[in-house]
Amino acid sequence: MTIREPLNAGVIGWPIGHSISPQFQQAAFNHLGIDARYEAHAVKPEEVRGFFDRLRRGGWLGCNVTIPHKATAAECVDELTPEAQAIGVVNTVIVQGDRLVGHNTDATGFMRALTEDGGFDARGKDAMLLGAGGAAMAVAIGLAGAGVRRLWIANRSVERAQALAELTRAGTGRGGHGTADVQALPLDAGALRAPIAEATLLVNTTSVGMRGGPAPAETPLPPELLGSHLLVYDLVYNPARTPLLEAAARADARTLEGLPMLVYQGAAAFERWTGQPAPADVMLATARRALAERMAAQH
Ligand SMILES: NC(=O)c1ccc[n+]([C@@H]2O[C@H](COP(=O)([O-])OP(=O)(O)OC[C@H]3O[C@@H](n4cnc5c(N)ncnc54)[C@H](OP(=O)(O)O)[C@@H]3O)[C@@H](O)[C@H]2O)c1
Repeated sequence: MTIREPLNAGVIGWPIGHSISPQFQQAAFNHLGIDARYEAHAVKPEEVRGFFDRLRRGGWLGCNVTIPHKATAAECVDELTPEAQAIGVVNTVIVQGDRLVGHNTDATGFMRALTEDGGFDARGKDAMLLGAGGAAMAVAIGLAGAGVRRLWIANRSVERAQALAELTRAGTGRGGHGTADVQALPLDAGALRAPIAEATLLVNTTSVGMRGGPAPAETPLPPELLGSHLLVYDLVYNPARTPLLEAAARADARTLEGLPMLVYQGAAAFERWTGQPAPADVMLATARRALAERMAAQH
C-alpha cells in the first residue's frame, strides 16, 4: 500500500512569524476536505530561488509570498499573469507542472473588500490614497481599473508618490488602466485639505497605526481633515481598529478594516491552487480569531 503525502502550500517571508495565513488557509483546506498542508516558511533572501526550485520538483500547489520577497518572486517565476505584470510584484505562485506562474491577488482582494464589505462603487468617484509602497501599487491599479475619476496619491517621500502616479497614469504600459486623472501630493495637511474635501474614499496604505510599526499610536493625516463624506479604508489590520479608523468613526465617516482584504487576497490564491470556490466566510472567521489570539498573547 502506498501512503499519499498531503499536497503542500504555504507562505514565504523573512521574518514570517507574524503571518496568520497558515491559520485561515488551513481552515479552508480542512473545510473542503482537501488533503493539503499550508505552513509558514522563514526563507532568507539568498534562499528564495532554491525554495522555488523545490516547488518545481512536485508535491506543491503553490505558495503565497510576503515581505521582502515579492519582487524577487517576480524574477524567479516562469510566467507572470497580466495583474502581476501591472502591479510589478508577485504575492501568489501557482505550480503548473514544472512551471511556476506568478500572480498578484492584492488588487482583487482590495476591490472585493471595498465593494462587498464597504458597499462602495468606485466608478466615477474621487479617491485619496495615502502611501506609495508595495500595497499602494495594488490599490492604485485596482482603483484605476475600477474607473475612479480622480486619484490623489499622497506620500511622505513625495518622489515615490510621483513615481506611483506615473505608473498608474500610464497603466504601467501593460495593464491599460490609464484613464484616471492621477496626481501626486506630499503627505501634509496643507496639500491634502482641498482634495480630501472632494474625495469620497480615503485609503491608508502606509504602515502608520500598525502594531509594531513605525508609528503605532498615530494617524497618517491630521484627524480634523476627516469628515462624514468619506469612507475610510485602512489596510493595516493589526490592530483591527487603528487610530485612523477610530478618528474616522469620531468624525462620522464610514470605516472599513484591513482584514477582509488580507483574507480575500488569500481566497483568490486558494481558488487558483485548487480550482474550487474558497470558503471566504470560514477563512475570515478564522483570521479574526487568530488575530484576536495574537493580540491577547501580546498583552
Ligand atoms: N490588508 C491587507 O491585505 C494588506 C496588504 C498589504 C499591506 N498591508 C499593510 O499595509 C501597510 C503597508 O505595507 P507595504 O507593504 O506597502 O509597506 P511598504 O512598502 O514598506 O510601504 C510603507 C509605506 O508607509 C509609509 N510610512 C512608513 N512610516 C511612515 C511614517 N512614520 N509616516 C508616514 N508614512 C510612513 C512609507 O512612506 P515612505 O515612502 O515615505 O517611506 C510607505 O508609503 C502595512 O501595515 C501592511 O501590513 C495590508
